[in-house]
Amino acid sequence: MSADGRRDYDGYARLGLDRSGQAEAFDAIGDRYDEAFPHKDGQLASGAWLATTLPPGSRVLDVGCGTGLPTARQLADAGHEVVGIDLSPGMLDLARANVPEAAFHLGDLAGLRDGHLGTFDGIAAFFSLLMLPRAEIPYALRMLHDLLRPGGLLALSMVEADVDDYAMPFLGNTIRVSGYLRDDLRQVVRDAGFDIAGENALAYAPASTDVPPEIQIFLDLRRA
Ligand SMILES: C[S@@+](CC[C@H](N)C(=O)[O-])C[C@H]1O[C@@H](n2cnc3c(N)ncnc32)[C@H](O)[C@@H]1O
Repeated sequence: MSADGRRDYDGYARLGLDRSGQAEAFDAIGDRYDEAFPHKDGQLASGAWLATTLPPGSRVLDVGCGTGLPTARQLADAGHEVVGIDLSPGMLDLARANVPEAAFHLGDLAGLRDGHLGTFDGIAAFFSLLMLPRAEIPYALRMLHDLLRPGGLLALSMVEADVDDYAMPFLGNTIRVSGYLRDDLRQVVRDAGFDIAGENALAYAPASTDVPPEIQIFLDLRRA
C-alpha cells in the first residue's frame, strides 16, 4: 500500500464494488436492529473513549451510522460536530430523527475517499467495515487513516470470525460479512497506520434468535 491510501482505494474500486442486497437488507431491518442489539455496553464504552478523549467541538464521522443510536447520539451529546454516512436510506431516516443536530449523508463509505466530506478529528466505525469483503477492508482503513488529522482517533468494532464475504441470515434478511481472528485484526489495523490505544472483547448474545451469538472486538485506535 502506498502513502496515499485514498488513491490506492480508487484503484481497488475501479475493479467494481459489489454492494448488492446490503442496503436493501438494512432498509428492511430498520429499528429492529436496535431491538435485536439492546445491550450496547462495549459500543458505549468505546464511544465514550472517542467522545471524551477529543475536545468538545471536534469534528467526528460515524461510518455506517445505522439508526444513529447509540453512537451519533452519544457524540452529539458530548458536544461534537457529528457527520454520519450510511448506504441505507431507511437507516438514515431513523438517524435523522434520532440525532437531528447531526449531518447525515446517504452514500457508500468507499465514496469518502474523494474527500468530499472533509477531514476529521475522530471517526467511529462500529460494525460497518465488517460489511465489506476482506480484500477491501485494508483499503477502507487506510482511507479512514488519511481522513483523520495526525493523531486523530478511530473507534473500530468488528465481530471476531474467520470469514470473508460470508452470506448469513440476519433478522429475516441476508447480509454478507467479513471478519478476522483478533491477532489478524490487530495486524490489519497496524498495517493501515494505527496504534492500538485500547482493546475490549466481549461475548454478545443478541436479544433475537434470528442473530447468532458473537464475540465483539472494540479497538481504540490512534492515527500513528
Ligand atoms: C451492522 S450495522 C451497524 C450500525 C451502527 N454503526 C451501529 O453500530 O449501531 C451496519 C451499517 O452499515 C451500513 N453499511 C453497510 N455497508 C456500507 C457501505 N458500504 N457504506 C456505508 N454504509 C454501509 C448499513 O446500512 C448499516 O446501517
